[in-house]
Amino acid sequence: MNRYIVTGGAGFIGSALVRALLAEGRSVHVIDNLSTGNARNLQEIADRITLHDLDICDYDRLAPVIAGAHRVFHLAAIPSVPKSIDNPVPSHASNIDGSFNVFRAAAEGKAGRVIYAASSSAYGDTEVLPKTESMAPRPKSPYAVQKLLGEYYASVFSDCFQLETVALRFFNVFGPRQDPTSPYSGVLSIFMTCLLERRSPTIFGDGEQSRDFTYVEDVVALLLKASEAKGVSGKTFNAGNGGRYTLNETWRLLQKIEGVDLPARYGPARTGDVRDSQADTAAAIRELGHAPKFSFEQGLRLTLDWYRGQRGL
Ligand code: NAD
Ligand code: UD1
Repeated sequence: MNRYIVTGGAGFIGSALVRALLAEGRSVHVIDNLSTGNARNLQEIADRITLHDLDICDYDRLAPVIAGAHRVFHLAAIPSVPKSIDNPVPSHASNIDGSFNVFRAAAEGKAGRVIYAASSSAYGDTEVLPKTESMAPRPKSPYAVQKLLGEYYASVFSDCFQLETVALRFFNVFGPRQDPTSPYSGVLSIFMTCLLERRSPTIFGDGEQSRDFTYVEDVVALLLKASEAKGVSGKTFNAGNGGRYTLNETWRLLQKIEGVDLPARYGPARTGDVRDSQADTAAAIRELGHAPKFSFEQGLRLTLDWYRGQRGL
């Protein structure tokens, strides 16, 4: 049976993708070192998958797992902008050396297509919104450089080593299982935890920075489409919803949904923070059949229900 590999499959987005692949009847192997991810994210499906607890920086252990795989979804990474500034060495190792290893193992092991989780952070602060794939990248943080380099490798492995690759630039993904417990966690997971605990969040900067928040199931659907689309090898596509909300708007919306009044606190802006982010989704719609289904508010409600359920509320 064809093997489908998900690196980072014990993480937030990876574990959602694993569930979608199982629903399609695929044989799924997860590669994860359980650093930012957790085996709990795969709990009720643990006996239906094979979990390889290994570091993508360890080529000798990685290569035999990837060799001959039908599809490789490469999501393993240390996914935080501020973490890549506070502690740059591990981010560089996982996000650059690890990604190179995945592409190399796939090429040498004659695997099928590699679908790479790239990041909208590659754009940095562009003058024009929405951000289109043809714009020159302007990374503002080590993390953004690292994810961009992975894209370049994806493209070059397609050109030079006949490995099929597709890169998807995810835009601020949110949804169930996003870990809210670290200071480096995604902002919506932190906002929702604050909301359910009736605490004020801290917004870094004036809160007028904006993001194209994208619900995880829409990203998973696009990953599956990108794994089968024809004529796209070596290309990079935006994987966003196409909208844009400021943090102030988002916190107001969450308070309205929950029926509470909890003014946010404000702290200094983060170094390396992108000001505004919004995807031009035309290329993904045209070439991959991207069709986001979840409005921001729908996604927020579903996610909030999930966090509530986790707390037995
Ligand atoms: P996550 O931290 O939940 O998942 C990443 C997974 O990779 C974790 O399970 C972690 O244990 C694993 N991992 C990290 N380093 C590893 C290593 N060296 N070897 C093996 N496994 C390792 O984060 P996520 O939000 O699910 O992100 C998944 C991917 O999507 C990442 O590549 C990230 O850069 C990318 N991305 C995420 C977002 C977002 O908004 N969440 C946006 C753009 C891109
Ligand atoms: C996020 C992803 C990154 C991805 C990128 C794509 C995470 C942890 N990071 O980066 O992997 O590649 O999108 O665009 O998922 N903020 C607060 N208060 C908080 C936390 C954050 O105000 O408690 C602010 C940040 O300063 C930033 C915004 O919220 O302005 C979003 O931050 P964050 O969720 O960390 O995501 P990005 O840095 O955009």
